[in-house]
Amino acid sequence: MPVTKKQLSGKRVVFGVGGSIAAYKAILLLRRLTDLGADVEVVMTTSACEFITPLTFQTLSGHPVHTNTFNPDDNMAHLRLAENADLILVSPATANLIGRFAQGMADDLLSTIILASHAPLLVVPAMDGGMWQHPLVQQNVKTLRETGVEILDPEFGSLASGHIGWGRFPSEEAIMSSIISLLTMPGDYHDEVVLITAGPTHEAIDPVRYIANRSSGKMGYALAQAAQKRGAQMVLVTGPTSLTPPPGIHTISVTTAEEMRDAVHKHFERATVVIMAAAVADYRPDQPAKTKLKKQGREQVSLALSPTPDILTSLSAQKSGQFMVGFAAETEHLIEEATRKLKAKGLDMIVANDVTKPGAGFGSDTNAAVVLDAHGLVADLPLMPKREMATKLLDLIRIRLNQQK
Ligand code: PMT
Repeated sequence: MPVTKKQLSGKRVVFGVGGSIAAYKAILLLRRLTDLGADVEVVMTTSACEFITPLTFQTLSGHPVHTNTFNPDDNMAHLRLAENADLILVSPATANLIGRFAQGMADDLLSTIILASHAPLLVVPAMDGGMWQHPLVQQNVKTLRETGVEILDPEFGSLASGHIGWGRFPSEEAIMSSIISLLTMPGDYHDEVVLITAGPTHEAIDPVRYIANRSSGKMGYALAQAAQKRGAQMVLVTGPTSLTPPPGIHTISVTTAEEMRDAVHKHFERATVVIMAAAVADYRPDQPAKTKLKKQGREQVSLALSPTPDILTSLSAQKSGQFMVGFAAETEHLIEEATRKLKAKGLDMIVANDVTKPGAGFGSDTNAAVVLDAHGLVADLPLMPKREMATKLLDLIRIRLNQQK
């Protein structure tokens, strides 16, 4: 009988186990992974060994279990595991582990491997509901997600403490489905050089004041991270934001519309896809003052403004096959305005946000959008996390790129 290749054959997983009562569920996950053909090496934290013995994982994985950074028989384990991994899974992840990863600490074997590796990291939290909802834990989760780490949300239900709440270990099916999609994610952007802009621009009024807008950069950064995961060579041009530059992405920081235009033009020729998610200022002060403007007892002042360069319009004029996507943030006449911008700026696609909708547009972690092209409606995307919207937009762009081939 022919042997059929298993779904995860050839995939190497570093499986980090943290010190939670849910550690026993890691055994079932390990079993599922090896059944699907994955080659799994387990790294246990010191506290995980209090809940369950390494021998169980060793027997099921067929490899010695790593518990110590300073193992004289395998003193390069951290680098070998980091370099060879297709995925690092941390399950269960405690509040302590999440906090240490978010701080970039490398004070044990698991955290050292994570810092040394470029492999995708999937974190499956398990903790008491009160801990999960603590603002410091949520801040750490946010920091990790902003740097591209996949973190599953715990489920609601009965907890080991006897309480009912958020914090319950996600179902085995939910975890397996994330693992499989991360390990088998199509590298469908491998042949693409994707240029993305994010964030606002700041236009100086004087040395201490500027004109800006409410863009946080989250939408553009989510797109950059999603494209990177799908194999794209990435260039991210970002206006001033509080976000951490995503690891492994060539990120260029700019302040003004003019600087953004120059940076984008520099990388335009070799780009195959351009996505302008930035909220570029349309006007800038005519003549920024060299010194701080004084109040001088005047009732009213007026500021002379002149238009900034329209980046997309200037790119379209030099287009040589790049797939061009713009965004439009609108407060009224969404479709009409977006359609007008699509044509005026010579775009292949436009993503229109109705920023009056709660949770959509500037600053939020979620967005809702209508995607249009020259033929009209492409997709109506309901409110969803910006990370999810980034994936859906890349799916739509991929379909168009395939049609052009
Ligand atoms: O950053 P977040 O907080 O996550 O918010 C995301 C977002 C709301 C900023 C994003 O989803 C979005 O809608 N970005 C476009 C914002 C906008 O106001 O665009 P616009 O309608 O001014 O411009 C239309 C398009 O032309 C945009 O792609 C813009 O980048 C581009 N443009 C605008 C002005 C200019 N001088 N040059 C340009 O190329």
